[in-house]
Amino acid sequence: MDSWAGIPGAFRALTKPLPEPWEAIFGPLRSGRTDDMLVVAQLGQSLDGRVATETGHSHYINGPEALAHLHRLRALVDAVVIGIGTALADDPQLTVRRVAGPQPARVVIDARGRLSASARLLAADGVRRLVVTATGARPPLPPDIEVIALPRSDGHIAPPAILGALAERGLRRVLIEGGADTVSRFLAARCLDRLHLMVAPIILGSGRTGFSLPPIARVDEAILTPMRMHRLGDDVLFDCDLSAQREPVGVAKKST
Ligand SMILES: NC(=O)c1ccc[n+]([C@@H]2O[C@H](COP(=O)([O-])OP(=O)(O)OC[C@H]3O[C@@H](n4cnc5c(N)ncnc54)[C@H](OP(=O)(O)O)[C@@H]3O)[C@@H](O)[C@H]2O)c1
Repeated sequence: MDSWAGIPGAFRALTKPLPEPWEAIFGPLRSGRTDDMLVVAQLGQSLDGRVATETGHSHYINGPEALAHLHRLRALVDAVVIGIGTALADDPQLTVRRVAGPQPARVVIDARGRLSASARLLAADGVRRLVVTATGARPPLPPDIEVIALPRSDGHIAPPAILGALAERGLRRVLIEGGADTVSRFLAARCLDRLHLMVAPIILGSGRTGFSLPPIARVDEAILTPMRMHRLGDDVLFDCDLSAQREPVGVAKKST
């Protein structure tokens, strides 16, 4: 898959469809149906639905094409969001390195102030870095980090409040990159427009599972998601459309 270089610019211009194969994969991420935000989550998992081993090791469940896809997603959004669990386990850089494209703002949800000031995603490289924390917490962070303090209830900051705070700061196209706990919270709060679930042809047999949502009693209460599939190397991308259940979080679309 070459011919990527001009895609991030064309994607944002919104003037005409992207050349294939990019329109089929990334076209649905250009604008949301519900409001002026577009929120996409990604998760890479094994055939048996595991996102990491028992020890938290997840590098790399997915193959090189899938990793390039993740970097392409980063290049297309304004901000990449992870939970503190991933920041501590992986110390990720969250930069666009495997493909050409602009760098998104990097956001960590860290309600209890556990992030180290030496975390790689806080590196001062000219890119905005934001930490979402609970009101009253005083994380010991460098002064150039933007701190977003939001109310926490039962250990939980409401995902719509997080997205609203990002939108206020001009970050309206957002990638929730993981881990499973963070993605599950945004899914449960009906804050996702799309989910990119990347399934690798491996069986871990044990380890951390993907989504964890409040229990339902009947199968017909499950989230229904129209879906497209794309083959990326040995992996399969399930592009799930969650727009029918997405709650408004940004400025509502005007009816025409
Ligand atoms: N396969 C993949 O695609 C993938 C992607 C990313 C990470 N991973 C793996 O997943 C593991 C980490 O994932 P994880 O699910 O354990 O953790 P995580 O989702 O990265 O972080 C979860 C933590 O973030 C904080 N948090 C997230 N949303 C919050 C909210 N709305 N309000 C308040 N706090 C919130 C909470 O921290 P507190 O507990 O401090 O309150 C929560 O316990 C690692 O092993 C990593 O390698 C896999």
